[in-house]
Amino acid sequence: MASVINSAPKVTVFLCFLSCFSHFLSSPKWVLAQSSPVFACDVENNPTLGQFGFCNTSLETAPRVADLVKRLTLEEKIGFLVNSAASVSRLGIPKYEWWSEALHGVSYVGPGTHFNSIVPGATSFPQVILTAASFNASLFEAIGKVVSTEARAMYNVGLAGLTYWSPNVNIFRDPRWGRGQETPGEDPLLSSKYASGYVRGLQQSDDGSPDRLKVAACCKHYTAYDLDNWKGVDRFHFNAVVTKQDMDDTFQPPFKSCVIDGNVASVMCSYNQVNGKPACADPDLLSGIVRGEWKLNGYIVSDCDSVDVFYNSQHYTKTPEEAAAKAILAGLDLNCGSFLGQHTEAAVKGGLVDESAVDKAVSNNFATLMRLGFFDGNPSKAIYGKLGPKDVCTSEHQELAREAARQGIVLLKNSKGSLPLSPTAIKTLAVIGPNANVTKTMIGNYEGTPCKYTTPLQGLTALVATTYSSGCSNVACGTAQIDEAKKIAAAADATVLIVGIDQSIEAEGRDRVNIQLPGQQPLLITEVAKASKGNVILVVMSGGGFDISFAKNDDKITSILWVGYPGEAGGAAIADVIFGFYNPSGRLPMTWYPQSYVDKVPMTNMNMRPDPASGYPGRTYRFYTGETIYTFGDGLSYTQFNHHLVQAPKSVSIPIEEGHSCHSSKCKSVDAVQESCQNLAFDIHLRVNNAGNISGSHTVFLFSSPPSVHNSPQKHLLGFEKVFVTAKAEALVRFKVDVCKDLSIVDELGTRKVALGLHVLHVGSLKHSLNVRI
Ligand SMILES: *[C@@H]1O[C@H](CO)[C@@H](O)[C@H](O)[C@H]1NC(C)=O
Ligand SMILES: *[C@@H]1O[C@H](CO)[C@@H](O)[C@H](O)[C@H]1NC(C)=O
Ligand SMILES: *[C@@H]1O[C@H](CO)[C@@H](O)[C@H](O)[C@H]1NC(C)=O
Ligand SMILES: *[C@@H]1O[C@H](CO)[C@@H](O)[C@H](O)[C@H]1NC(C)=O
Repeated sequence: MASVINSAPKVTVFLCFLSCFSHFLSSPKWVLAQSSPVFACDVENNPTLGQFGFCNTSLETAPRVADLVKRLTLEEKIGFLVNSAASVSRLGIPKYEWWSEALHGVSYVGPGTHFNSIVPGATSFPQVILTAASFNASLFEAIGKVVSTEARAMYNVGLAGLTYWSPNVNIFRDPRWGRGQETPGEDPLLSSKYASGYVRGLQQSDDGSPDRLKVAACCKHYTAYDLDNWKGVDRFHFNAVVTKQDMDDTFQPPFKSCVIDGNVASVMCSYNQVNGKPACADPDLLSGIVRGEWKLNGYIVSDCDSVDVFYNSQHYTKTPEEAAAKAILAGLDLNCGSFLGQHTEAAVKGGLVDESAVDKAVSNNFATLMRLGFFDGNPSKAIYGKLGPKDVCTSEHQELAREAARQGIVLLKNSKGSLPLSPTAIKTLAVIGPNANVTKTMIGNYEGTPCKYTTPLQGLTALVATTYSSGCSNVACGTAQIDEAKKIAAAADATVLIVGIDQSIEAEGRDRVNIQLPGQQPLLITEVAKASKGNVILVVMSGGGFDISFAKNDDKITSILWVGYPGEAGGAAIADVIFGFYNPSGRLPMTWYPQSYVDKVPMTNMNMRPDPASGYPGRTYRFYTGETIYTFGDGLSYTQFNHHLVQAPKSVSIPIEEGHSCHSSKCKSVDAVQESCQNLAFDIHLRVNNAGNISGSHTVFLFSSPPSVHNSPQKHLLGFEKVFVTAKAEALVRFKVDVCKDLSIVDELGTRKVALGLHVLHVGSLKHSLNVRI
């Protein structure tokens, strides 16, 4: 999204100048913040609107949209191509602001949403990277559902829109990316499950109707974005060079799943170019894939303002009219920004694009608003009409924010007997570090005003007596105040060091160049650990990972937790985990690399696969084989879980037709799209045993290492399932594996294939060989 960060809550002020001027003088009163929702077809107050087909709720969406479009002039239609959409008063259509955000709670970023005294805040969930670490698909959906309830409640009092440009499902392929925090991590399957789950939570209508939307979500930024500003290369000029193979097995899957499984109402194209073409001007990506192959039911929107960017910054076209025409012809329906508003009329008049293409675009936008009930008259009597300020920041919603943080927090190191701490044995706890007493840091970016904050220091102080020292004046930590920190650590029964970064180090428009803890943080940590009397728990708050090998290898540091940006209740959740009120169950959704990795790998190299010729090591757990600090899926528990295989086939055969060339000559793989391949599935049953004496949740990962043909990944995730297992008990977990969908890989030309031969399935340390043959 754009660099327009609008963090000051705004109040819309309506002034009436002429007619109420005298009234104004006699009783000086500002008419503050419109407190009713914006909607069209107010038949109650304007019965003549009832004659219009587009206001007729007995009709299907398509004929209503067609009725509306045929009533509009070209100029009026163009007013509906931009985020701040125009009004048409003769048809009873008010202005509508399309741009609202709800990445992890209703946000004030984007002009469509505001907080004021009526709704001062909304539930602020953990930043997405931490929620993803929960590996709990039902949690993704549960959060989406709460967010859409709060969004509807705010819409009803005129404070929010109905169209939300969330989630961000770009692959977190490089640890330096400032926006990695917004994403569900590096794995295409996890990102796909997150996308479809969160979108369902946001969109699914309470009446179960598939055509109705609670709010409209948007999967962004399509595609191959993943770079903001690194060593002078910025997203407005970046040309992502992506192979067909990486495109189809890494960058496309989250968007595909978002559209097909999540039924998302919108996709946003990104600023960058993909193989020399701006994403928002690429008909193959937009019309061809998103609308054609995946059959998006909704609208395609540009990032703010991608069309302007590809004209003015990338100089992709000679004239602005050409840029407008190219965007519309590529399949763009809505322009965040004003470019299409300014240049489309001239583009049509100049013959660069037909009016029918504009009709198509606005029809997609109108259809989305119809599905949201925007053209159904006063929403107070409709399905969400009863929602209001009382439904925002409810105790249940805030409890889910705390629960989400607990479920995501990852325990990376725990020497025997270190965690959990006992709240009765600990008489004093030293709490140290630049992120120990933070509020806003916990909610990351694309945030809203939260209901309230519980800082880590408050969370811990609620359980035991604490002493506190920030250790550094900010996360940059130019000069650490080591002596005071050492003093309190030496005197306390245990020490919790809460370090990491914030938006001053990783943010939109700000990629990192190094992945060490900033400034003197490592010195502070090492010195405090040395001076501590008791256990030392290092808590790292961040979106991206770090090279913290110094702490991993320091015996004085007995435990390490990564807490992402844990949201408004982050401090309570951290305390819950440290003191054993919640048994940690989060797993890393991305690889933590050593500093040498980023010293060697240019962020601009999009290749996922290693290149032995140049020494390029590849990216993510699927392809990178070098040294890591922590790897994808890492995460400990206070108990011990064991896996036992109950049922899995030793071989599966893919029926291929007689005369298929693979009968006569030896094939390494067969097409995964052929008829015979459909619905070819098998079950894997596992027992998960909790061998310890503490109950807890555990994520079972099913990985597969396919035969090494077509540069296949060394291993890839086929499925994951989080289960709760009581102490000393066990649970049964079942995976249904679709051979052609789940076991397949993408070849060099972007075609899905099933490799023939031995696929090694892994669950924890368990391995099982599966022979795939014809
Ligand atoms: C609305 O559409 C229905 C179904 O076509 C039709 O029967 C009805 O007369 C329409 N209402 C108005 C006011 O035109
Ligand atoms: C924690 O931060 C808040 C707000 O910045 C400040 O008022 C409070 O004094 C700090 N707590 C301590 C113990 O320093
Ligand atoms: C679990 O077992 C350990 C070691 O036997 C013991 O110290 C601890 O108190 C037990 N915890 C619970 C919750 O029973
Ligand atoms: C997944 O999240 C949901 C919603 O918070 C929760 O009820 C459930 O217990 C979680 N599952 C596991 C296995 O922890």
